[in-house]
Amino acid sequence: MVIGQLGQSLDGRIATASGHSRYINRSGALEHLHRLRAEVDAVIVGVGTVIADNPLLTVRRIPGPNPARIILDPHNRTPDNALCLTDDGSRRLIFVTEPRPRAEGIELVQLPRGDSGFSPHAVLEALRERGMSRVLVEGGSVTLSRFLAARALDRMHLLVAPMIIGSGLTGLTLPPIIDLTSAMRVSATVYPLGGGDILVDCDLRAPWEGDHE
Ligand SMILES: NC(=O)c1ccc[n+]([C@@H]2O[C@H](COP(=O)([O-])OP(=O)(O)OC[C@H]3O[C@@H](n4cnc5c(N)ncnc54)[C@H](OP(=O)(O)O)[C@@H]3O)[C@@H](O)[C@H]2O)c1
Repeated sequence: MVIGQLGQSLDGRIATASGHSRYINRSGALEHLHRLRAEVDAVIVGVGTVIADNPLLTVRRIPGPNPARIILDPHNRTPDNALCLTDDGSRRLIFVTEPRPRAEGIELVQLPRGDSGFSPHAVLEALRERGMSRVLVEGGSVTLSRFLAARALDRMHLLVAPMIIGSGLTGLTLPPIIDLTSAMRVSATVYPLGGGDILVDCDLRAPWEGDHE
């Protein structure tokens, strides 16, 4: 099971133009995110999120185990003092093109990089080989969009806050399509999360096309 998540505004933004994103969602949605973290073996983020937010990626708002923390970082930009690299007993992996020395205990996974970076399927396969098959792709925009474009997600949880940011970072960006018959039409269920936030639970395993009448 591979699940993506994004906390976004009504207008589909996940951060302001300056990268400020804490917090778009209220506590119910944040608890949901921590519940997702507790349910998976590994949480993936892109290096852009590590640099912008310096997240811990631990489970704090609910009881539950911390997942392994995975950073996609082809150019070795993750600061050595990034909080998610803290040695707290959880596995910490960095996917790179060329490894460089890191603190003891940090696992480096070397993958080839194509035009769109690492193949999401190759990343997932490398995690499966290391015993991690339940995966949360937590963001940011580039990372989640690449997993979605590669059809590497089973589900996507959009945590939508009743907020209009009006400019800034767009959550999902995919290659252009000509008309709406090529749009991804997904099966979705909506749940209230409190504070006006809603969860849109998208099942991406259902057929992507059809039902265009
Ligand atoms: N609201 C939310 O739920 C949420 C969640 C997470 C983050 N955010 C926000 O999102 C922003 C960061 O998003 P972002 O899109 O700029 O960055 P990002 O997705 O966190 O990181 C993007 C970078 O990670 C590397 N990367 C990602 N996928 C890769 C792949 N398949 N192969 C190779 N490298 C890959 C690349 O590094 P290189 O550039 O070195 O090639 C890429 O430029 C921040 O403002 C953060 O606050 C919001």
